[in-house]
Amino acid sequence: MRLSLRFVLPLMLVLAAIAWGVAPLVDQLTLRWFTHDMDIRAELLTNAMREPMMEHIETDSKSKIAAYFSRVAQDQRLYAIGYCATPESRPLATRALPPQIGCNNLNQFMGDQRPLLASPRGPLHVAVKQLGKDDEAAGWLVLIHDMSFVERRSEETTTYVFYFFMALAAVVSLVTVIIAQLSWRGWVAGIQSLLRGEGLLRDPAARTVSVPEFRPIARDLQRLIQEMESGSRSRDASQITWSPESLRAILHGELRGDDIIVVSNREPYIHQQRGDAIEVQRPASGMVTAIEPIMRACSGTWIAHGSGSADRNTVDQRDHIAVPPGNPSYEVRRVWLTPEEESGYYYGFSNEGLWPLCHIAHVRPTFRSADWAQYVAVNEKFAKAVVSESRTGNPIVLVQDYHFALLPRMIRERLPDATIITFWHIPWPNPESFAICPWREEIITGLLGSSILGFHTQFHCNNFVDTVDRLLEARVDRESFTVSLGGKLTAVRRYPISIAWPPSEEMTGKPVEQCRAEIRRNNGLPATQLIGIGVDRLDYTKGIMERFRAVERLLELKPEWIGRFTFIQIGAPTRTGIDEYQNHEAQVRALAMRINEKFGRGVPPPIILKVEHHEPRQVYEYYRASELCFVSSLHDGMNLVAKEFVAARDDERGVLILSQFTGAARELPEALMVNPYDADQSGAALHLALTMPESEQRDRMRLMRGLVSEFNVYRWVGRMLLDAAMMRRRGRLLDKPVVGA
Ligand code: G6P
Repeated sequence: MRLSLRFVLPLMLVLAAIAWGVAPLVDQLTLRWFTHDMDIRAELLTNAMREPMMEHIETDSKSKIAAYFSRVAQDQRLYAIGYCATPESRPLATRALPPQIGCNNLNQFMGDQRPLLASPRGPLHVAVKQLGKDDEAAGWLVLIHDMSFVERRSEETTTYVFYFFMALAAVVSLVTVIIAQLSWRGWVAGIQSLLRGEGLLRDPAARTVSVPEFRPIARDLQRLIQEMESGSRSRDASQITWSPESLRAILHGELRGDDIIVVSNREPYIHQQRGDAIEVQRPASGMVTAIEPIMRACSGTWIAHGSGSADRNTVDQRDHIAVPPGNPSYEVRRVWLTPEEESGYYYGFSNEGLWPLCHIAHVRPTFRSADWAQYVAVNEKFAKAVVSESRTGNPIVLVQDYHFALLPRMIRERLPDATIITFWHIPWPNPESFAICPWREEIITGLLGSSILGFHTQFHCNNFVDTVDRLLEARVDRESFTVSLGGKLTAVRRYPISIAWPPSEEMTGKPVEQCRAEIRRNNGLPATQLIGIGVDRLDYTKGIMERFRAVERLLELKPEWIGRFTFIQIGAPTRTGIDEYQNHEAQVRALAMRINEKFGRGVPPPIILKVEHHEPRQVYEYYRASELCFVSSLHDGMNLVAKEFVAARDDERGVLILSQFTGAARELPEALMVNPYDADQSGAALHLALTMPESEQRDRMRLMRGLVSEFNVYRWVGRMLLDAAMMRRRGRLLDKPVVGA
């Protein structure tokens, strides 16, 4: 409105000034036109009067002329009429003839440039016409017309012109204001969509406003934003030393202490009833390993399934418990599931459907509509929990993993201003593989409720974007790696997950030599035995069978290792309610037994399989006690065991053998890289590791430790939070009312 007034008032003033300027022009014009009319009229009148006048002149009848004049003078416009026989005579005229007119000064009233005669009544038009032949003048007829009407008409015309201009001003202003408002809105919408990264230039469809004249500016603006973004990204990558402190600084600085809520299926601390006592367990989960140190650093609330037998006995009335036990720094909110929900949502859809679907590990996914119904219901349940835990309308919600593909959209519907960061901890398959899921559109649409969707590798980001492109009517921008669905934007980004650095004193406090001695003793091995370690959940994606076959191949190819080398496999029981996992455990046990029978007669066994839960501290003792660690996953999003082994070896010894099918392989090229399906190659890698000189072990370990220390878990989440902070700032900017609009 203010903009309109600021624009319209000057416009009206300008037009009014024009109207006033035009008025004298109008006066002059009308006067000229009417004078010309009067000339023609006088000519006509003279022609009409010529004959009767000549008759009266010939008869020299002054009285007849006078009578004739008074008849003619009845014409409304004819003010006076006169006749001069000679320049010396006195005019014979009607009474109104102005005194300034005499027969001796008629010359002044002849010709084109003659002036009007002023009179009290107004201007008078004087026309002098000769009677008789050209060379034989019979006198001069003087016709005087009243021109006062010209002034009146001129005044009226000026008034009309003035009103016309004012009306024109109003119409022009109105049209201009409407156009200005529309294009202003268009520009603002254009800038907003541009700032949102939707790309003003690429697709005029959807809600993007296309303003052709704005395109060059838009291109520059877009480039500037990208530069600023990449600038700040490179700043964060190179300048920040990532630690719990820097993470806290980001939370309190960039995010102004905003609410942080984490949602995952697996909880970080599980309370189990053991007889009369309650035992606290730390689950074997890469996801928990990564998120837990972050929550310690940031506080906030972690919503997860309460799966332990004593979980209900340890929460308060709001189903909350402060953790870690003994040194609480954040809260866990437990969500309870019925056996039907757990069976359909967790065992069924998540772990018999999505897990094998996303891991190309030759186990067929199973999809049942009853499981899907529970998956939807449990996602709803967690969405409600998120709403009840948010203290504000715009919390930052970190959604973890494939158990909650529908949750981002459900949260978005309930808390439209939330910043939702979803991290998919497992691989994302190619579009053809993913398309076999009967609820593929629902899964993708659910995930696209996120503000940011993260994967470990660019390869998985590409697969996801390809899947969206293939299966949904959404706008995919491969330059900025964003997907726009229904006008809402999701940034698809690579954030390689990691572990806390430095590892806590609790993990590395025991000296390496002590670990070596104890582990050998506890496992009945001689002090000189060389040890390899594998630490996994007993999951068919981990390649444990392939690992054992590699050990077998090593002993076949290099029998000198029989009795001198033992591979210890820690296998945490997992998802035991699923047939495939039970079969897998049985196969792993049988294979270990067969290999031990083949090579372990009378000597220490080549394989020690420990199918039981181990606390992180115990696992670190194994890492520190071993000559090598073998990670042979058939397909793995990242695999944090590889990074944990590196973190555990502050003595800079030990060799990592790593499957090329893990996300970690992209970050740790100094490991011995293997294809776990190739038993010969893997067996050879074991031999190489066991014979690697200490100096080479140190060189490789140093490089890997350098990388893990820098690219630690604080950096992983810190980069996501910085991107989220940027989005929130941008959102706040766009929400601000535009001044004057
Ligand atoms: C993978 C998943 C995690 C999960 C973990 C353990 O690492 O990405 O989300 O927690 O496996 O599996 P579980 O079913 O025991 O939670």
